[in-house]
Amino acid sequence: MENEILLQSVNFILDENLNPLSNYANFTALIMEHVKDLNWVGIYLYDGEKLFLGPFQGKSAVPLIDMGRGVCGAAAEQRKTLVVDSVHDFSGHIACDCDSNSEIVVPIIKNNQLLGVLDIDSPKYKRFDEELKSDMELLVKLLVDIL
Ligand code: SME
Repeated sequence: MENEILLQSVNFILDENLNPLSNYANFTALIMEHVKDLNWVGIYLYDGEKLFLGPFQGKSAVPLIDMGRGVCGAAAEQRKTLVVDSVHDFSGHIACDCDSNSEIVVPIIKNNQLLGVLDIDSPKYKRFDEELKSDMELLVKLLVDIL
């Protein structure tokens, strides 16, 4: 983990007795607070048909995403983490904040059920290297454990 304080804070703050929305909100806030060079961190939730905007940090964003559309819809449909080094090269990328240049989307899956995705944007190109990718996947795993 690149940022041990982030890991400890997430472990400390997440609480299985809370409404999931409260956990999602603090989860996004902690990532925004502890990871450098980010401009948007949020969760899109899956309602069985589409992804709808959940708790986030950053500028206002597209409220609904169809499965398969954009980076979020693609990661949700494929059920795998997608790292995009330059959003301008991703065909179908949905632009929300024009400061975004790279992006990672990690699916949130519990008991084989898709719950949503964690979406993170950076103004830096290639911000999400292998280490940051595995860090974000670990954090999502901790989140899923308390849902
Ligand atoms: N860029 C995303 C849409 C959400 S915003 O980044 C907040 C996508 O292409 O799915």
